[in-house]
Amino acid sequence: MIILSIETSCDDTCVTIFEAKGGTKNPQFNILANNSNSQIKTHIPYGGVYPALAKREHIKNLPIVFEKTLKESKVTKVDVIAVTSGPGLEPCLWAGIVFAEELAKKWSVPVVPVNHMEGHVLSVFGKAEGKFKISKTKFPVLSLLVSGGHTQLVLMKDWGKYKIIGETVDDAVGEAFDKVARMLGLPYPGGPHISKLAEKERKNKKSTFKFPRPMLKSKDFNFSFSGLKTSILYFLKDQKNVSKSAVALEFENAAIECLVYKTKKAIEKYKVKTLFVGGGVAANRHLKAEMRKLKIKTLFPTPALSTDNSIMIGMVGYLNYLKNPKKKYKIRANGSLRLGKVIK
Ligand code: KG4
Ligand code: ZN
Repeated sequence: MIILSIETSCDDTCVTIFEAKGGTKNPQFNILANNSNSQIKTHIPYGGVYPALAKREHIKNLPIVFEKTLKESKVTKVDVIAVTSGPGLEPCLWAGIVFAEELAKKWSVPVVPVNHMEGHVLSVFGKAEGKFKISKTKFPVLSLLVSGGHTQLVLMKDWGKYKIIGETVDDAVGEAFDKVARMLGLPYPGGPHISKLAEKERKNKKSTFKFPRPMLKSKDFNFSFSGLKTSILYFLKDQKNVSKSAVALEFENAAIECLVYKTKKAIEKYKVKTLFVGGGVAANRHLKAEMRKLKIKTLFPTPALSTDNSIMIGMVGYLNYLKNPKKKYKIRANGSLRLGKVIK
C-alpha cells in the first residue's frame, strides 16, 4: 500500500510518500521520498512561531514540497493520505487538511487524520531513509514526549491504548529552552544552542550556583518549567558577569533532572518494560545520557525524526487506516487534541 503523509502542525511543511506492509502485527515501511520545508528563518524576528504567517507559508510551500516528493517517489497515485489534525496551531493544521482533502478528491482515495503526539510516540521506530521494522515491543511502554509545545508522560498498555499520566502545568520544556536561550541572546530555536554551550561547559569546571527543580518532589508525574525560567531571569539581572555557558549548563541540568526523575518514578510505579522518548528535546545529549542510566530498554528517534516530520505521521496513518479501512472521516483541525485519557 502506498501512503502519502502531510504534517503542517507548526512551522515545518512536511510530505512523505512510502510503501507500507505487514499489517498491524508487523508494520514495515519503505520510504520512497521525504521532503520538508522549515520556516525557522521566517519566524526568527518574532522569537517564536507566528501563526498567521506560518499558515501562509504552509499554503505557499505545500504544493512545492508535494510536487517534489511525488516526482522523487516515482509513483503517480497513492492509496491512502494521512494528515495531522492536531494538536498544533489550528490555522496551520487547516492548511494541511484542506490540501489533503483536495488531493483525496482528485485521486478518489481516503484521508485519515493523525494525532501529532501519537506520531512522536511512534517516531522512535522510524529512520529518515530506507527500510525499517517495528520491533517486538514489550508493554507497558512509557513515552516521554518533549517538544516546544508539549511535555507529557504517556503510558501505553498496548498499541493505540494511551493514558496521559503526567504533563507540564505551564511551559513545555522545549519552550523553556527557547526562552532561556532568548535571555542569553542566543538565536531561535534555542534548545540546540543551549545544549551546545552546556556540553562544552560540562567538561570544564564545577559551577558555583544552581537553579531550582520545580515540582521535583510532588507526588504526581507533572512538570513545571516557568518558575525555573523566572529564577534565571532574576539571576541574570543580578549577576552581570556570569558566563552564558555556565547558565546554559545549570539550566540544562535542572530541566533534565526534572524530566528524568519523574520518568524514573513512573517506570517504578507502572512496572514499565520499555521507554520511548520523542519530540525535539529528545535530541538533547544530556537527556540521552541520563536516561541511559535508568537501565531500561529505551528507544530514541534519530535526530531527523525527533523534530516534526511527516514520516511519523504516515506510520500512525497506516495503522489508523488498517483499524477502520472503510471509515469516512470528517476531519477538523483541533489545536488541543488529546492523546487518550488523562489520569493523574
Ligand atoms: O518537536 P519539535 O520539533 O517541535 C514541536 O512540536 O514543538 O520541538 C522543537 C523544540 C524546540 O523548543 C527546540 O528548542 C527543542 O525542541 N530542541 C532542543 C534540542 N533540539 C531541539 N532542546 C534541547 N536540546 C536540544 N538538543
Ligand atoms: Zn512536534
